[in-house]
Parts: sequence; structure tokens; C-alpha cells
Amino acid sequence: MENLMFRDGILKGKRILVTGGGTGLGEVMSEAYAQLGATVYICGRRKGVLDETAKNLSDKTRGTVKAIACDIRVAEAVDDMIAQIWADGGALTGLVNNAAGNFISRTKDLSPRGFNAIADIVFRGSFYVTLACGKRWIEGKNKASVISILTTWIWNGGPFTVPSAMSKAGLNVMTMSLAQEWGPHGIRLNAIAPGPFPTKGAWERLNPAASGGGAGGAEARGVQGGIARNGEMYELCNLATFLMADGCEYLTGQTIAIDGGMSLVGGNFSRLASLDDAAWDAIRGQIRSANDKDKAQRSV
Ligand code: HXC
Ligand code: NAP
Repeated sequence: MENLMFRDGILKGKRILVTGGGTGLGEVMSEAYAQLGATVYICGRRKGVLDETAKNLSDKTRGTVKAIACDIRVAEAVDDMIAQIWADGGALTGLVNNAAGNFISRTKDLSPRGFNAIADIVFRGSFYVTLACGKRWIEGKNKASVISILTTWIWNGGPFTVPSAMSKAGLNVMTMSLAQEWGPHGIRLNAIAPGPFPTKGAWERLNPAASGGGAGGAEARGVQGGIARNGEMYELCNLATFLMADGCEYLTGQTIAIDGGMSLVGGNFSRLASLDDAAWDAIRGQIRSANDKDKAQRSV
């Protein structure tokens, strides 16, 4: 990856788990970490996708990226994965809570199962992974850094993405709470709230063509103020490296937006209020077909 601002080897000796590291933002952060010297573990539900990413990134960075199939909604499976990683080479030094599920929908159209489909991954799953690591770090007296990938909707609300906004807001409170509770153990927790960084997973579910030109990106959201463009992957990776590297041990409990200032001028999906029933039916159909394609590849 080009444009990383850190010197080679800055993450040498670090051992980092990136949940959802097989695709999208998790994949690019894993690439940066491996390139800068860390041993990286990635997890997700599609083993084939993970294996391919782990191989590509290991080849590309000449670093070590290892894939583990795990559904973070299952607490026992999470604990088994974390035990496997500890047995593989010792304690992790870092965790990135990146795995997530999301789709745009009018909230009145959601079923309880639809809400849980998102909350079980984001809210509960991220907690299970943080807990499985945290209890081992405290027991082993290990220092560590946790980064959770949130959204700017934790500050200004997430119309049409309410289960995601609620779950991410919960993780924001987890970040502030555990920064205080686990700070004395040398465990830091921070979070990143990205603006739009186009990925296949997010755009299939948040930016389907039926929404009239796209809902996800900066331009499509009609953002006039700030740096009105999508984010570049290296910009996110530089921030994710800064929070993971040694040298900012006094920084904890913070959620940092990297969104060109978009959330200061709106930047959520409130403009979708103008869509009619037919447009929402079309959007739902498109999202379902993306979900079904991904589901067919799951191994856990
Ligand atoms: C309404 C929907 C729906 C839709 C699914 N459901 N899609 N409801 N509108 N578009 C409902 C279903 O009807 C069902 O409820 C329930 O959700 C569960 O559906 P499943 O397909 O069985 O879900 P599951 O297999 O658990 O898959 C979870 C998922 C899926 C979240 C629905 O999309 C997924 O696995 N996503 C992972 C990847 C992802 O989402 N990436 C995007 C992250 S981007 P009923 O009652 O009908 O049975 C992000 C923020 C980006 O987080 C910010 C950008 C700026
Ligand atoms: P993505 O490519 O769809 O990434 C989501 C990842 O999570 C996938 O690799 C998925 O893999 C994994 N995952 C989902 N459910 C899981 C489960 N139960 N167990 C384990 N892994 C699971 O989308 P993305 O855009 O890169 O999103 C990454 C993160 O950035 C998310 O937290 C998202 O909310 C956040 N974010 C993204 C943007 C953006 O513009 N892209 C903006 C703000 C915030 P499997 O399906 O194989 O499990």
C-alpha cells in the first residue's frame, strides 16, 4: 500500500486481530498492519474469502496474515478463536472490532429478526471479542490497544440505519467505559468513525442503484461543506496504525471521525425520506440478493 506515513517495521512484534478482515476496510487495515511488520489474524464467516485474502496479503506485504473462520455472534466460537490465537504465538497486542452487518431500510419495515441480524454482529459480537481478549490481557498483565470501527451516526443519529446506529452507539459507550475500567491494566480503547470509504459490502447494502443515484457516498448525500469527497483507504490506514503503534499510550476512550468534516454538516441518510414504497421495495430486493450471494459462501 502506498502513502502510509509510518516507517517500515513500526509494528514489528505486534499481534493484531482484525474482525471482518477478509474484505473491505478490514482487509486494507490488515494489509497496512502486515506491511508495517505486525502478525495479523483475520476472521469472518466465509472461509474461502478469508483464505484468499490472507494469501494475497501475505504475498503482497511479505508479512504474516492468518485466517480463522469464526462467527462473532457465537460467544463460544469467539472464545475458541481467541484461545487458538493465544496458543499460536502468545497474547494479541491489538484488536480491531471491524466486522459488521448493515442495510438501509425504513425502520417501520424492520422485523425483530432484522434488528437482531445487525445488533447480534455489531453490538453483541464486538463485545464478545473484546471480552475474550480483555480477560486474557488482564490475567496475563499484557498491554493492548483496541480500536472499534464505528460510524459518525453515533453523534447525529442514523435515519434508515437505526439498528446499526444504535449498536455503534453502544460500542462508543463501551469504548469510554472500558478505557476507564481497563486503563489501569494498560489496555487502551479507542474508536474510528469513518465517513464514506466505498467497499463492495457496504455499497451493496447502503447504496443500491434503486435509491436514485446512490446513498452512500459524499456526493450522493449532497454534502456541501467540509472536504466533500469519499475517503481514501490509506487515510484510514494511517489513523488505524497511529492508534495501534507505540507512542500514544496516553490516548484512550476517544472516537475519532475521519470523514472530511461531513458529520458536522449532516452526512447521514436523512435525504432518503423522499423515497416512495416502490423505491424501497426495489432497494430491499437488491440488498436481499446481495445477502443471499454472500450467505451461499459462508462456512460457519
Ligand atoms: C429489511 C431485511 C433486509 C432489508 C435483511 N432483512 N435485509 N429487512 N430490509 N434490506 C431481514 C430479513 O428479512 C430477516 O428478517 C433478517 O433481516 C435476517 O436476514 P438474514 O438474511 O437471515 O440475515 P443474516 O444471514 O443474519 O445476515 C446478516 C445481514 C447481512 C446483516 C442481513 O447483510 C450480512 O451478513 N452482512 C454482513 C456484511 C455487511 O452488512 N457489510 C456492510 C457493513 S457497512 P425476517 O423477519 O424477514 O426473517 C456498515 C456501515 C457503513 O456497517 C457506513 C457507510 C457510510
Ligand atoms: P464489509 O466489507 O461488508 O465488511 C464487513 C465484514 O464483517 C465482512 O468481512 C464480513 O465477513 C464480516 N462479518 C459480518 N458478520 C460477521 C460475523 N457474524 N462474524 C464474523 N465476521 C463477520 O464492509 P466494510 O465497508 O468494509 O465495513 C467494515 C467496517 O467499517 C464496519 O464496521 C462498518 O460498519 C464500518 N464502516 C464502513 C464505512 C464505509 O464507508 N465502508 C463507513 C463507516 C463505517 P463475512 O460475511 O464473511 O462474515
